[in-house]
Amino acid sequence: MTQASDSRLAIDGGTPARQNPDPPMYPGGMAIAEEEERAVLEVLRSKRLFRYYGPGETESKASQLEEAFAATKGASYAVAVTSGTAALVTGLHAIGVGPGDEVILPAYTWIASAAAVAAAGGIPVVAEVDETLLLDPADVAEKISPYTKAIMPVHMRGASCRMDELMAVADENGLKVIEDVAQANGGSYKGRALGTIGDVGCFSLQFNKIITSGEGGMVVTDSEDVWKRTNMYHDVIAPLRAEYGEDELLCGVNYRMPELLAAVALVQLERLDGLIEAMRLRKRMLKSGIEEVTERKGLRFRELADADGDTAISMVFFMDSAAAAEAVSEALRAENIGAGPLYRPEGIDYHVYAHWVPILERRAWTEAGGPWRWAKREIEYRPDMCPRSLDLLGRAVHMNVNPLLTNEDVEETIDGLNRVLEALA
Ligand SMILES: Cc1ncc(COP(=O)(O)O)c(C=O)c1O
Repeated sequence: MTQASDSRLAIDGGTPARQNPDPPMYPGGMAIAEEEERAVLEVLRSKRLFRYYGPGETESKASQLEEAFAATKGASYAVAVTSGTAALVTGLHAIGVGPGDEVILPAYTWIASAAAVAAAGGIPVVAEVDETLLLDPADVAEKISPYTKAIMPVHMRGASCRMDELMAVADENGLKVIEDVAQANGGSYKGRALGTIGDVGCFSLQFNKIITSGEGGMVVTDSEDVWKRTNMYHDVIAPLRAEYGEDELLCGVNYRMPELLAAVALVQLERLDGLIEAMRLRKRMLKSGIEEVTERKGLRFRELADADGDTAISMVFFMDSAAAAEAVSEALRAENIGAGPLYRPEGIDYHVYAHWVPILERRAWTEAGGPWRWAKREIEYRPDMCPRSLDLLGRAVHMNVNPLLTNEDVEETIDGLNRVLEALA
């Protein structure tokens, strides 16, 4: 049966608009091909699995990755680490966050952002997101205390935070800025690569991210001092290899990226621009295909601080209520179009602070208590402490923009969106 002969929504028993469901949303992961295979085999055959030495004379893949990554970002330094979380913990140490220091981060981010602050001994302070679904500069200003050390803008779902406003708040208050770019690798703000605007930028190469080595992370900075501290923290033996003065030495850990992962990440880095271009093209088509109905119904899209720098991994629009967002999402899923609200009170989703139970309850690894024992003032956590964020996220309908969508998939998605929004918005 074709669309023309069956105008019912799929949820009412009609034929789904999309013949095929979304391909898996692993942009870089799905692009893995012979180039990655060759790169891994090259490392295995050289037997140089460790960045500093092996039996032969081959060049370190981690070193090559750092050089290439820094160059693509226009940053002075890049350091390869084992995960995005490791990048954040390292970056926090590098900018001098320590016991009792407060770090302001958004209500909407993967729990790792807050966990990294706690791991550095810092105190996560949660601020509201605005219609960008990213850190609200006005609420950040409200949440600053005499003990605030840093702000952590997190560029969620591919798009940039309002960096001019956030940098101004940081500058006025003498705060450091650590950008979490895990979900927006390749994005930019006013022509500058995300991750290079604050004091330090932290990336993830985990499998869901735009490009991937399965696990992995990168830290970028323009500051020689931050780079030295990053280098020393992520690698306890770095000082033995570097030419720092003895009096500068600090004791780090081991978050060094393995050569096999670096080999994969180097190939994936080459794929980044192409993936973003493919997603941007599809997002433009989708948005213009539903423009008439969204305008007529007064539906608003998520605000973008810089639409030109959006990586386009997602398309988000707001409904009037969480119930409407749920109903539209359900109807879209029946059409074989992946969609869902960004917050539901039930279930566990570590992307929203209200679900960060171990943080909200200040659970510690020992009876002596976690970082909160170092807090210099009373810090209150409540699941409802950022009501505006919960409202916005609950009303937001989120869709992935998959680079593997064919023209036919995109046309069918537009058809399904138009019919669902016409009926339910
Ligand atoms: C916003 C954000 N920050 C940090 C992380 C942590 O990265 P990783 O899983 O590589 O440790 C992730 C992803 O998992 C993330 O989405």
